[in-house]
Amino acid sequence: MPPLEVAPSILAADHGRLREQVETVQAAGATVIHVDVMDGHFVPPLALGPGAVTALRDLGLHLEVHLMVDRPERTQIAAFAQAGAGTIYVHAEATPHLNYALAQIRAAGCLAGLALTPSTPLDVFREVDADIALLMTVNPGWGGQAFIPSSLDKVARLRALLGPDVPIEVDGGVDAGTAGPVAAAGATRLVAGTAVFGSDDPAAAYARILAAAQAGAG
Ligand code: DX5
Ligand code: ZN
Repeated sequence: MPPLEVAPSILAADHGRLREQVETVQAAGATVIHVDVMDGHFVPPLALGPGAVTALRDLGLHLEVHLMVDRPERTQIAAFAQAGAGTIYVHAEATPHLNYALAQIRAAGCLAGLALTPSTPLDVFREVDADIALLMTVNPGWGGQAFIPSSLDKVARLRALLGPDVPIEVDGGVDAGTAGPVAAAGATRLVAGTAVFGSDDPAAAYARILAAAQAGAG
């Protein structure tokens, strides 16, 4: 199985002191940072651009960019790859050219991630190869929502489909309470926004979520 990781999402961070907040979780052991990008079309809100990636790229972290944007293959993949992304996720629901979008991500030198919203069936994973899978465990667009309980079964079914080697990321509503069950179901990378940066002590919160995930994974 891939290593168990917690990826703090900067959507919930104080953007006025973004680097400082990221350095705090880095000091606590985080090596992956999750960057949410929203276009006002695929999801209603707007959030973050390539500048957020550029601002963090010299910290030595793996920056993963979650593109919640329509037709990402038109311009956004290239823009975020150039900004310093290590992994780029595209949503299966956001383009009719998924195979092309994933190939474009790899051609730009990044790992290719495939993301699904909660209502999208897993079958697309039979048709395209992704370096990492992302299952949304809330409806995309906002931090701070409650984890959708049926996601646990979906994660377990995806683990059975993909086998032991492909990393599975879960995104939305992950905290010290949901981390254990979702890791037990087969998730290996857990995004946590509000539970980390909404906490008074983001470093301690990061450590608590990782410990809960490790306990759940056994
Ligand atoms: C939601 C984003 C998430 C968000 C998670 O659309 O994709 O990455 O930051 O936030 P929490 O951890 O607060 O649910
Ligand atoms: Zn996300």
